[in-house]
Amino acid sequence: MNKLVKELNKARADEWIAHYYYKWAADVACGINFKPVADTLDEIAKDELEHFDELSERIIELQGEPERNFENLVKIANAPKITFPKDCHDLEGILKAVIEQGEQGAIDVYNRILKSLGSCFDKDAKTFHLIQHILAEEIEHEEAFENFL
Ligand SMILES: [Fe+2]
Ligand SMILES: [Fe+2]
Repeated sequence: MNKLVKELNKARADEWIAHYYYKWAADVACGINFKPVADTLDEIAKDELEHFDELSERIIELQGEPERNFENLVKIANAPKITFPKDCHDLEGILKAVIEQGEQGAIDVYNRILKSLGSCFDKDAKTFHLIQHILAEEIEHEEAFENFL
C-alpha cells in the first residue's frame, strides 16, 4: 500500500506542475492565432487540477498523506519541468512541449500504475478505476493538442 501511495503522490505532483506550466503557456502565448490554443491550455489546466484533487482524495482514503511541503513537489515529480520555446509566437513549439513533456509523460505514468494495479485489481478496484478515468482524459488532452498541429 505504501508503494502505491508513493506513486500516487508522484503523479499528484506531476498534475500540479502541469497545471502551473499550462497556465503559464496560456498566459504568455502570443501571435495571430494564439487564442484557441491559449483557451485549450486553460481548459486542460483545469482538468489537471481536478486530477490533482482526485489523487489527493484517494491518497487520504488509502490512509496516506498528500505531499505536505510545496517545495517537495518538484523533487518527487516524474516530470518536474516543462521547457517551452523562448518565442511566444512559436505555438507549434509550445504544443509540442505540452504533448511530449506533459501528456505523453502522464500517459506513461498512468499506464505503469495501472499495470502494477492489474495484479491486485480485486483488492483495489477503486484506485484502478480512478487511474483509468484520469488516463482516458490524458489521452483526450494529447489529442486536443495534436489537433492544432
Ligand atoms: Fe492530468
Ligand atoms: Fe493532461
